Amino acid sequence: MSSSQQSGQKTAIAPATGKLGVMVVGLGAVATTFIAGVEAVRRGLAKPIGSLTQMGTIRLGKRTDGNAPLIRDFVPLASLDDLVFTGWDIFEDNVYEAAAHAKVLDNETLAALKPYLETIKPMPAVFDQHYVKRLNGTHVKTGKNKMDLVEQVRAEIRAFRKTVDRVVVIWCGSTEIFLEPTAVHQSIAAFEQGLVASDPSIAPSQIYAWAALSEGVPFANGAPNLTVDFPAAIELSRKNNAPITGKDFKTGQTFMKTVLAPAFKARMLGVSGWYSTNILGNRDGEVLDDPESFKTKEESKLGVLDYILQPELYPDLYKDIYHKVRINYYPPRGDNKEGWDNIDIFGWLGYPMQIKVDFLCRDSILAAPIALDLVLFLDLAQRTQQLASIGVQEWLSFYWKSPQTAPDLYPEHDLFIQSMKLKNTLRHIMGHELITHLGLEYYD
Ligand SMILES: NC(=O)c1ccc[n+]([C@@H]2O[C@H](COP(=O)([O-])OP(=O)(O)OC[C@H]3O[C@@H](n4cnc5c(N)ncnc54)[C@H](O)[C@@H]3O)[C@@H](O)[C@H]2O)c1
Repeated sequence: MSSSQQSGQKTAIAPATGKLGVMVVGLGAVATTFIAGVEAVRRGLAKPIGSLTQMGTIRLGKRTDGNAPLIRDFVPLASLDDLVFTGWDIFEDNVYEAAAHAKVLDNETLAALKPYLETIKPMPAVFDQHYVKRLNGTHVKTGKNKMDLVEQVRAEIRAFRKTVDRVVVIWCGSTEIFLEPTAVHQSIAAFEQGLVASDPSIAPSQIYAWAALSEGVPFANGAPNLTVDFPAAIELSRKNNAPITGKDFKTGQTFMKTVLAPAFKARMLGVSGWYSTNILGNRDGEVLDDPESFKTKEESKLGVLDYILQPELYPDLYKDIYHKVRINYYPPRGDNKEGWDNIDIFGWLGYPMQIKVDFLCRDSILAAPIALDLVLFLDLAQRTQQLASIGVQEWLSFYWKSPQTAPDLYPEHDLFIQSMKLKNTLRHIMGHELITHLGLEYYD
């Protein structure tokens, strides 16, 4: 009996040679903390804490084998030294100025990195205030219709690609208003007609995403916007070997939720209510103070509990959970969010208990390593024969509040299942045995 399964042949993976261009949409708190952090690590000033690709190991074979290499030694990932950054924003500030404005990193760190960060200047954005009510930018492209804007972004991607070997685009821009897919989102042809007609259901994030996927460039969406979560984008992603994955970085409160909820379910403890509230004072908090942007975030945050707890399978435990999520803009805290959870649970014979979580986190410090890992793993996916053309990379669910999946498949939100899935995917593409944790062979 074996606790591991033979995965079969290693799939072909192109080497990670040369430069990887990272095009970041929205050079705000998360993006600048990501870029400055990579540079700080490259210079040996700090460690890439929170990054699975940089610090994580992967067990291979039996527990008795003692074989657990670093993930970055096991799979061919681009090295941090090979990352080259550029991006877009609605403000003209360079990355040093934007990072100073965001006030996430201390002055000493920023001063050490200033000459490098100043060289990264945003290209003008695709922006329309209709989709982000609380922002008003001046560094913005104009075009005769939305297709024209796609063409402009495509030209910028092509120009940048001439200076590097491969490119990934990542959205670290603000949360747009809540949009649902319409007729234009159903096929490539319909979407392209929609672009020409400047259909109002096509938001700026979709314009960047369409440009990237049209150029065969992987795209990650750090916000809860629709962006690539519709049939036409999935079709284009598959057609052009441009991997996509979920939306909305899973960083603070939802990260905790997807750790705690599986624990309650594993022990068959009931949940009657889960009240989550946050105070947040950065620009993201300001944007989310607008009800239409908050609605997009709320949908993303609310989804996880139902999928994890499966009330349809466990009606006695989870049928009538009262789940509430609030975000309150509170400027004094800046990027240092405080997230409270009150969880009403019940145990043996229905006796009630409570759990309180008070997470004093730093939003962008949590998000930056996720941005890094996603860029590196999406680039790996594109170089991996078995993954490049499948479109949605469900194995990266680990990083998302709202993982994307194949149609009709429910998303996996449990952090530990997500982690196992990610590592087994890496074992699989490298032709190593999958680890099932059965473990009976240790007792033969
Ligand atoms: N930090 C976290 O823990 C976390 C977790 C999940 C999701 N997010 C999401 O990540 C995104 C970025 O967060 P942040 O804290 O860096 O916010 P931020 O406000 O500091 O940065 C967003 C930047 O995007 C720019 N922008 C907005 N629309 C744009 C467009 N159309 N084109 C180009 N630039 C545009 C803004 O000018 C701003 O500089 C937000 O949507 C946020 O909800 C953050």
